[in-house]
Amino acid sequence: MKPLLELIPDHIRRLATYVPGKAVRQAQRETGIAMIKLASNENPLGPSPRAVEAIRAAAAEVNLYPDNEASDLRQELAKRHHLAPENIFLADGSLGLLDILARTLLTPGLNCITSERSFISYPIVTRAAGAELISTPMRHDSYDLDAIAAAINDRTRVVILANPNNPTGTMFDADVTERFLSRAPDHVLIVLDEAYYDFATFFAAQRGVTYTRSLDYVRAGRPNVLVLRTFSKAHGLAGLRLGYGCGHPELLQYFGRLRNAFSVSAVAQAAGLAALRDEEHIRRTVENNTAGAAWLMPRFSEIGLRAVETSANFIYFEVEEDANVFARKMLAEGVIVRSLVPWGISNGIRVTIGTPDQNDKFVDALRKLVRQPVTS
Ligand SMILES: Cc1ncc(COP(=O)(O)O)c(C=O)c1O
Repeated sequence: MKPLLELIPDHIRRLATYVPGKAVRQAQRETGIAMIKLASNENPLGPSPRAVEAIRAAAAEVNLYPDNEASDLRQELAKRHHLAPENIFLADGSLGLLDILARTLLTPGLNCITSERSFISYPIVTRAAGAELISTPMRHDSYDLDAIAAAINDRTRVVILANPNNPTGTMFDADVTERFLSRAPDHVLIVLDEAYYDFATFFAAQRGVTYTRSLDYVRAGRPNVLVLRTFSKAHGLAGLRLGYGCGHPELLQYFGRLRNAFSVSAVAQAAGLAALRDEEHIRRTVENNTAGAAWLMPRFSEIGLRAVETSANFIYFEVEEDANVFARKMLAEGVIVRSLVPWGISNGIRVTIGTPDQNDKFVDALRKLVRQPVTS
């Protein structure tokens, strides 16, 4: 018999490791330079002050296991979304939920479809379940839903659509989603990953389009639509790991069997509840983001770099050198950005929209690193 470590199943051996954006302290230690982190699409204004208060209060009871049903938070989310609590499933981040849904629906021989250049965790959770990931080409930096519809076959059980997409920041609107869903077969779960919901809603209103009507499908009882939302972005609670899905109660019951008991901490539940109610913080966050995007986009054109209009809290742009090399040079300037080489985009960079000061520092570094176009 071979030794244990040689017996790790092949589909696990082949898995890529999730590479997160570099942590500020780690980057500061390595470079000795004061850093700003614009690499993980976190909230640059910090958490809601009301959530911080709730975290302090909840800390006094961390000797107790949390409410496994997250009853208060589920009730509040259900009320806000005009759904029943049974339509809501809380997890340790949308990542936790993606992992559970993959393990519920996918096995070897089955497949999950998404787009190329999309969220890096979709292939990981699919392959961890032993299933195949099919990724279709993009069109104009956006999901091509026709290509996804054409790729669906009898062995497809899940389609994941990031809307807006990470890392390109592009979105498709409610009518495009409707057309896709009207063609989607009943044997496939359509996951609408709306991690950047608050930002996208605001941008769409500005641009006169309807971002999403995703929850209508859940309200109508459609069993094969699941909507993912997270507290990691606009609510500023990435460090607490809190996300949720809205879907059909029977599907969510199966998810419940696979979830690690108590995976959503009492501190996360309390903070989530307070953050939801802090509408002022969300408004400030979204306004800062929209103003940041409006300020940054013309800077890219001035510098001569292609950047894609965003519907989220980050901007995708392209540089004229290897993205890893560029990201390392930015690090030396005290700015952590995300190289998209792991996505297979050799010259792609994703930068989170920061506070005005952070955006300024980022643009100063960008101007310094990028050759200015010759003007006549
Ligand atoms: C499209 C998308 N989905 C999900 C997530 C993960 O969110 P969470 O922190 O809730 O696990 C991210 C985070 O960057 C994301 O970009």
